Formats: sequence, structure tokens, C-alpha cells
Amino acid sequence: MQLDVFTLVPHAYAWLTEQRPVATVLGSELDLRLFSYRDTTPLRSGQVDDEPYGGGAGMVLRVDVVAAALDTVYGGRPGHRVVALTPQGRQLTQELVEELAPEERLTVLSARYEGFDERIVEHLCTDALSIGPYVLSNGDLPAMVLVDALARRLPGALAAGSGEVESFSPELEGRLEYPQYTRPAEFRGWRVPDVLLSGDHAVVERWRKEHVR
Ligand SMILES: C[S@@+](CC[C@H](N)C(=O)[O-])C[C@H]1O[C@@H](n2cnc3c(N)ncnc32)[C@H](O)[C@@H]1O
Repeated sequence: MQLDVFTLVPHAYAWLTEQRPVATVLGSELDLRLFSYRDTTPLRSGQVDDEPYGGGAGMVLRVDVVAAALDTVYGGRPGHRVVALTPQGRQLTQELVEELAPEERLTVLSARYEGFDERIVEHLCTDALSIGPYVLSNGDLPAMVLVDALARRLPGALAAGSGEVESFSPELEGRLEYPQYTRPAEFRGWRVPDVLLSGDHAVVERWRKEHVR
């Protein structure tokens, strides 16, 4: 997957690219490209946003700035999905992650302050996506959430077996994973369920099925 993120802070993604599973698939299944709106803005002094028409607080990301960024990178409107990150978007679920993961190319637009000029979402994007019903200060944490969620669905991202049976997966019928435990078997009188210590694989499987939430 070629995943292009447009942002004002490309350097903020350094941490993400060092972490698994993103680090594991970078350069093979994942080509993550980071673009700064400032590098291609047609305005002077790296300006990218402006005061809202009608008045009010904050600054709004300009449509000409985003159009210039897309034109520079794609030579026009990209022929693939372009996702605006905004609290007004479709809420991100595992189902939506599975829908996006097979895309060969995906572009993600992050904003800040008051967000996008609505014409960006309307005319330059195919999708608007929210990571939840709350407001964050910018779209970079949402972009990183999306990159991580997509990266772990790419081939080779996870150790064999660890990505199939997990919360929201078809194997668990879209439900939440059973409780997991590790050593010590008892801590402050809190005991791991005996069945998990039994070594009986079939019994453990039955217990896990019963404890899917
Ligand atoms: C402070 S927010 C803008 C909030 C906007 N004025 C509103 O009332 O909905 C700035 C930017 O952060 C990003 N953002 C904030 N919360 C988000 C969320 N829940 N999901 C996705 N992106 C979000 C978006 O890119 C947004 O344009």
C-alpha cells in the first residue's frame, strides 16, 4: 500500500515509523510518504491557513493550499481515495479499516485549528473520517491511528496467528477478545482461572469461546 499523509508536521511521524507493526512493513508492504502543505503552498512565508469567513476564532486550512499539494504530488486529482480527517467524518471502525486495507493507494489529509475549508472535503476528498466523537487539536494523532490500524492488516505485519483472532475479527464474530493472562499464576491472591493452567488445549479453547465478550 502506498499511504500518503499530508500534514504540517511530517517530523511528528518519526516515532510511529520506528514502532511495530509500521516499522515491520515499511519499505515492503507499506510505502508511507509524508508531505508538508508548507512545501507546496502558493502563498508567501509558508502560509497555509486563514481567518474564517463570517468571523470567529481560529484559522482554517485553505483550499488552494491543499489543491496545490495534491497537484504537485499527483499532477491533478488522484485516482484513488483521499481521506479528510475530521470530527464530522464517518467513524473509524475495524470494518472500515478492513475496507481500506486492500486499497493500493490511499491519501490522508490532516488539518489543525478550526479544520478544513469545507470545499476541501467536498471537492478534493472522497471520504471524511473521524476516529471518534471527540475533538483533538489536529489530525496527526488520527492519521497515526489510521496508519497503525492499516499497517497491522498488511501481509507480514504481525507474527503468524496474532492478527486473526482478536477483537472485532470474524473469528470472534465481531465481538471482543476473551481475557488474557500471563505469569505469575497468582498475585496478591488474584488467581488466573485454573482452566488456563490445565494444559488441556480443547478445554482452554472452550473457555475462551465462552468468554468472548
Ligand atoms: C480542533 S480540530 C477542528 C474541530 C472543528 N472546528 C470542529 O468543531 O469539528 C482540528 C483538526 O483536528 C483533526 N481532528 C480533530 N478531532 C478529530 C477526530 N475525532 N477525528 C479525526 N480528526 C480529528 C481534524 O483534522 C480537524 O480538522
